[in-house]
This record gives sequence, C-alpha cells and structure tokens, in this order.
Amino acid sequence: MIYASMRSIASYIPKQCITNFDLEKIVDTSNEWITKRTGIKTRYFADKTQATSDLATYAGELAIQRAGLRPSDIDLVIVATLSPDFLGMPSTACIASHNLGIHNKPAFDITTACTGFIYLLSLAKAYIQAGMYENILIIGAEKISSLLDFNDRSTCVLFGDGAGASVISATSDQNEAIVDVHISANGQYSDFLVTPGCGSRNPANQHVIDSNLQFIQMKGNETFKLAVKTLANDVDYILKANSMQPEDIKFFIPHQANLRIISAVGEMLDFHQDQIVVTVDQFGNTSAASIPMAINSVYEAQKLQKGDLLLLDAFGGGLTWGSALLRFGGL
Ligand code: ACO
Repeated sequence: MIYASMRSIASYIPKQCITNFDLEKIVDTSNEWITKRTGIKTRYFADKTQATSDLATYAGELAIQRAGLRPSDIDLVIVATLSPDFLGMPSTACIASHNLGIHNKPAFDITTACTGFIYLLSLAKAYIQAGMYENILIIGAEKISSLLDFNDRSTCVLFGDGAGASVISATSDQNEAIVDVHISANGQYSDFLVTPGCGSRNPANQHVIDSNLQFIQMKGNETFKLAVKTLANDVDYILKANSMQPEDIKFFIPHQANLRIISAVGEMLDFHQDQIVVTVDQFGNTSAASIPMAINSVYEAQKLQKGDLLLLDAFGGGLTWGSALLRFGGL
C-alpha cells in the first residue's frame, strides 16, 4: 500500500514587520481594537520588489532541503494563492518552479483562499496514492498586502504576507502518513469574501480602479459566525470518521484568521491550550500560507516529532473549508 507523507515543512516570513501602532498612523483604528477583536499584534509585508512567487521560492527551497531532496527529485509543484503574481497566467507555480530549478515537471495554481493548504494536501495525497508521483512540492504563498485597501479599516488590519511549503512523498509506513483529508465548498456565500474587480465579472477599467474594486472585501461578522460553526462541525466530523478523540491529537492547527475564532472552536471541541497552535498574533491572516507557517512554527520550536498526529482545519473565501489528520513524516 502506498501512503502520502508530509516529509518536510518550511516557511518564509517577509522582513518588514508592521505593528498595530504602524497601522494606527494610516487608518482610523487602534492597537486596542485590533488586539481585542482579532488577537493580531503584528504582521509582515513583502517589499515592493517581491511578488508571491518570490516568497513561495524561499519557502519551497527550504522545504526541499529539509526533505533531504534535490529540485530534480520533485515531480509536481502546486501553489495555493489568492494573490498570484499575475491575473490568469502564467501561474505562480510555474514561476516558482523555474526559480527553484525544477524543470519540465507539471506546475499549477489553485484558488481556494484560506483553505488552500488543506486542498493542496488532498491533491497531493490523491496523486501519490494513485501512484502518479513520488515527491510533490506544495506551497501556500501570499502577498495579500498587494490586495489590501488601506482606506478600509475592516480588512487592512487583518492580513499579512508569507509562504509555507511542504514536500509530500510516497511511503509504505502508515505511522508517518496523511490519515484523512476532507474538503468542501459552498458558492452560495461567494459574496462574503471577494475581490470584485479586474476579473471577467468586472474587467479592469477606470471605474473599477476608482472604486477600489481590485481590493479584498469581506462581510466580517457574517463570515465570523459561519466560520466558528463550520470549523467546529468539520473537526468533529473528521475525528469521528477516524474514531479519534481530541486527546489523541498532538497539535490542533487551525487557520489563523482571528484568535476569537480559534479560541471558540478550541473550547467547543475540548482541546487543551497547549494543543492549540496560535500564530495569528505574530503573522495576522496569511490565507493559504497560514497553516504551513503555523506547522513550521512548532517544527522550528523543536516541538514536533516524527509520527506526531496533527489536526488541521481551515475556512475561507469561496466559501471553502476543510480539515486534515496526518502523522508528521519529517525528521
Ligand atoms: N478598527 C476600529 N474599529 C473597527 C475596525 C478597525 N480596524 N474594523 C471595524 N471596526 C468597527 C466597525 O466599523 C464597527 O463599528 P460600528 O459598530 O460603529 O458600526 C465595529 O468595529 C464592529 O465591527 P464588526 O465587523 O461587527 O466587528 P467584528 O467583531 O465582527 O470583528 C472581524 C471584525 C475581525 C473582521 C471579524 O468579523 C472576523 O474575524 N471575521 C472572520 C474573518 C475570517 O474568518 N475570514 C475567513 C478567512 S479569510 C480568507 O479566506 C481570505
């Protein structure tokens, strides 16, 4: 039997740290509001010369190195992003692959917003178990700062840039395998989180730009309520489907959008504080990069051992959501 294993994890954090106090100077907000309503204290922004593929390349390079592989060992590259280098083409995955020295191998992007990394795991698991590929590089990467309206205080304080990457490899050892991945979507709520301009619905023109439609818009409160309910149901479902209890999990790693969502879901599901990984305070919401960046934070803190059981859970624009159970397969 072939299983898929998370053989490495890595991330890239851009250099420019933006505090809540920095944002106070450019938009009508306060450190107190942001901290109380979201838990966010800082976020990092890429500099003007960097595109999403640059962040993806740094994280991807480290993930390949940590897996003990060379670029030529990678059979497929998939990038999840809502902030691609270019609208439509070429894909961010093609550019990152080229930067990484991965030649003549398939590469493509997916757009499932903050659920990106869970969808990537689902794809990588399916390709590997079908016997098509042996080593797949998956990357969640975002330069969301390029999509933020700094006149809209309800969104611009929430997001940050970054990238997280992982090599998913074939293994015969079930003790280091991805156990299960569930993904789902409901387009009924597509207007909850949307970048309205510059696609085929509202092609780029002066009106679109003057109305700031090229930036992210969010119905925050409606999204919040649906996120708590959906995330809690999702975790409950995947645990029951695999006959597991919260105490079997080493780390519960939810999407990092808002500390209040993470705490509410953690409490509803009876996770202990030390099981729940929180990075939203440092990085803000980095969308598709948030979960791999959070896994990397426990990895780099040397808290993650081979075989540790991780439960991942995410929710985002689309709407999309998903969860994954896996035994870490890295060193
Ligand atoms: N500073 C100060 N005041 C603010 C700010 C700000 N940055 N932003 C909003 N406010 C004000 C509002 O204007 C409002 O004022 P009013 O009562 O006078 O009208 C008040 O604060 C409350 O606004 P709400 O939107 O109701 O605040 P809420 O408590 O819901 O928090 C937040 C907003 C943080 C966005 C929250 O709703 C949230 O986290 N939503 C879910 C986000 C999420 O999970 N998204 C999914 C993933 S993201 C993705 O896929 C890309």
